[in-house]
Amino acid sequence: KADVFTFDPGYTSTGSCESKITFIDGEKGELLYRGYPIEQLAEKSHYLEVCYLLLYGELPTKAQMDDFETRVTKHTMLHEQMRNFYSGFRRDAHPMAVVCGVVGAMSAFYHDSTDINDPWQREVATIRLIAKLPTIVAWAFKYAAGQPFVYPRNDLNYAENFLHMCFSVPAEEYKVDPILAKAMDRIFTLHADHEQNASTSTVRLAGSSGANPFACIAAGVACLWGPAHGGANQACLEMLREIGTVDQIPTYIKKAKDKNDPFRLMGFGHRVYKNFDPRAKVMKESADEVLGLLGIENNETLAVAKELEKIALEDEYFVEKKLYPNVDFYSGIILEAMGFPTSMFTPIFALSRTVGWISQWKEMMEESSKIGRPRQLYTGAAFRDYVDVAGR
Ligand code: SDX
Repeated sequence: KADVFTFDPGYTSTGSCESKITFIDGEKGELLYRGYPIEQLAEKSHYLEVCYLLLYGELPTKAQMDDFETRVTKHTMLHEQMRNFYSGFRRDAHPMAVVCGVVGAMSAFYHDSTDINDPWQREVATIRLIAKLPTIVAWAFKYAAGQPFVYPRNDLNYAENFLHMCFSVPAEEYKVDPILAKAMDRIFTLHADHEQNASTSTVRLAGSSGANPFACIAAGVACLWGPAHGGANQACLEMLREIGTVDQIPTYIKKAKDKNDPFRLMGFGHRVYKNFDPRAKVMKESADEVLGLLGIENNETLAVAKELEKIALEDEYFVEKKLYPNVDFYSGIILEAMGFPTSMFTPIFALSRTVGWISQWKEMMEESSKIGRPRQLYTGAAFRDYVDVAGR
């Protein structure tokens, strides 16, 4: 059905492409969504407003925001048959395997009604993905916990609804603490988009072939899972746990600097930031606030994280290589304090990043370009004739 269309994201030899959505200055540690600094959005905006901004390029009027929020709220339910996908997984399956599978399965339920060359149908698919990811991720959490799925409620906001679907049980409704919901919402905002990172580039490349948006987002989920990318938040908290106490930090710093040791400080370093990741700063403040609220400010893991950051930032290896904490360094501490197991950290990252992925896919589709085809520098054997086995 879809016309053959062309995509050329302008991949140059460095693999870059043009976009109007997110700007990063790695040297200055600056991150802008459609020109607005992440620090201001994290403080003054909320996730669904940031979704509107990323998708349509401008902050919404009240009427536009109300309409957008209503459209999202009305699409939070999954097709009842999608519940069956969960029971096909082992209970101990990593939730990212479940989320990747269920998001991909959306292609079987919504793809046939999505003509990707029709802007309105692209819009419907976009709203469905933003609306349903919290339900898909929450149900992956419930499935692993052996608890019944909890349906979304239309009287709760986006973050409240996600916490409700994760922590309510038939015997007791979860009482959403507004401050925890605000912290959850802020985590969604901080992870919403980040220019052409590995998973976003995966979504763009998949979309350039004409694949449906649900399959493209599933490809993004798969790429995000890696410990060098979105999987770092889980790996970071497990590393902080392994370090255990402040006096063990020098041992791990030494390992991280040893060229022969594959160990890296999880939550540290970045391909683009050669200064502080601005998201890490906001996340650190949020960690203090949330743990203080929960009365666990003397959390040993937070103490190890802060001391590790302090020691690393004074160490010449990290200073010379310009390695700073990134978005994944403190996020896990907050999520664990909220009650999430480490296996849920990356699915929450995927939920948050869905708007970034689909905004970039939308931008690419609107610019109707050719299929992506990164080239290579061939370093293999020169032309040679076949040799029979007798002659080898
Ligand atoms: C995310 O791209 C994005 O925008 C991603 C992301 C997003 O929002 O989408 O920001 C999310 O993925 C954040 C990154 C999460 N990953 C981690 O925290 C895992 C730990 N970090 C690293 O694995 C590493 O820093 C990377 C993968 C993030 C970047 O690795 P690179 O490309 O090797 O980084 P680099 O080229 O800047 O490294 C410079 C040097 C290298 O040593 P040399 O080859 O020069 O001798 O620093 C070393 C690296 O080996 N190094 C580290 C290190 N990170 C880099 N050494 C110890 N510990 C680390 N964490």
